[in-house]
Amino acid sequence: MLIDTHAHLNAEQFDEDRDEVIQRARQAGVEKIINVGFNRETIEQTMQLTNDYDFIYAAVGWHPVDAIDMKHEDLLWIEQLCKHEKVVAIGEMGLDYHWDTSPKEVQEDVFRQQVRLARKCNMPIIIHDREAHMDIVRILKEEKAHEVGGVMHCFSGSWEMAKECLNMNFYISFGGPVTFKNAKKPKEVLRQVPLERLLVETDSPYLTPHPFRGKRNESAYVTYVAEAAAEIKQIKLQEMLKITTNNANTLFSLPK
Ligand code: NI
Repeated sequence: MLIDTHAHLNAEQFDEDRDEVIQRARQAGVEKIINVGFNRETIEQTMQLTNDYDFIYAAVGWHPVDAIDMKHEDLLWIEQLCKHEKVVAIGEMGLDYHWDTSPKEVQEDVFRQQVRLARKCNMPIIIHDREAHMDIVRILKEEKAHEVGGVMHCFSGSWEMAKECLNMNFYISFGGPVTFKNAKKPKEVLRQVPLERLLVETDSPYLTPHPFRGKRNESAYVTYVAEAAAEIKQIKLQEMLKITTNNANTLFSLPK
């Protein structure tokens, strides 16, 4: 059994066959899925999914790419949603310096507000970091994110950065890229992350693992990520599934 700790099954890429995709995940042994909503539309869709499927849980937050659109009432809405029994984390939040859709200062402000909210509500945080490693670590430190901890989603930083995140009570999550032959850096970081802080995810429909790279990703493929992780860690797949499932249950306080 395993848990896909980061998926966007609400995405339009699944509009034709969403239920089949979700059933395939179950058949592949995925016992729970955390679906991540990151703006008004996707949060609503995510909450609907948690309503339709008892094994789908929600993370709700505001993506840095959409930071420019976040209003104060959105933050209040997220705070309300955190009382919902299926909402298990705030995020994804963070910084994205690749897509230049929101100014850096706006991204930073929206990020800080959400870390503060997470501390207020005592919820773990899901971090999106694209080409912003140093600023992410600095802001997490300044905002005392260690009080709630969380997960570095689809981690792309160095081992040095991973250590800083581990020290702030964060888990390190890996996705499709660790299955790529030429992905030296994430593999090397994964090898060094302590097993008790490791998570696996898909980020469906994005970041599809080998051998489906280039096609649409789906939660069933988290098995390929777990296989790659077991191989890199040189442990049995069963052991990897047990450990990462246990880690996800602990971080997100999921029912066992
Ligand atoms: Ni995501």
